[in-house]
Amino acid sequence: MVCLGNICRSPLAEGILKSKINTSEVYVDSAGTGHWHVGNQPDERSIVVAKKHGIDITNQRGRQFSKQDFEEFDLIYAMDTSNKKDVLALAENDAQKGKVKLILDEIFPGENVDVPDPYYGGDLGFEQVFKMLDEACDEIIKSL
Ligand code: 4NP
Repeated sequence: MVCLGNICRSPLAEGILKSKINTSEVYVDSAGTGHWHVGNQPDERSIVVAKKHGIDITNQRGRQFSKQDFEEFDLIYAMDTSNKKDVLALAENDAQKGKVKLILDEIFPGENVDVPDPYYGGDLGFEQVFKMLDEACDEIIKSL
């Protein structure tokens, strides 16, 4: 799960997907394309909205997406088209590029819908982001 800062959207996506799968069978992690929040806990507003839905994301720490992730993961879900472009720019071949998907393509195929960045918005944005990611993760688990 990849966003820009790895403190708002992708930590929620990681926590939501983990809550729906057997984590000893499927390895889920998140990262940011940017480096600013490496080592940081998720944004307090993401922690609160996750907790409201029974998910604890407080043990997550920010990390930056790296080329090594193309080796480690079968699927790479970008939260928005800008994140997707930045991840694709690090890919070295078509197999790696083929792993990169826009997460909301799971519910709006081919429509290029972004998960809006809630960082500068209010708490309502986080609730909306949670709902979108929850629906997308329901689709993802159907294909795992
Ligand atoms: P995220 O949100 O990509 O969903 O984690 C952001 C968090 C921090 C920043 C931008 C987006 N930032 O510029 O610090």
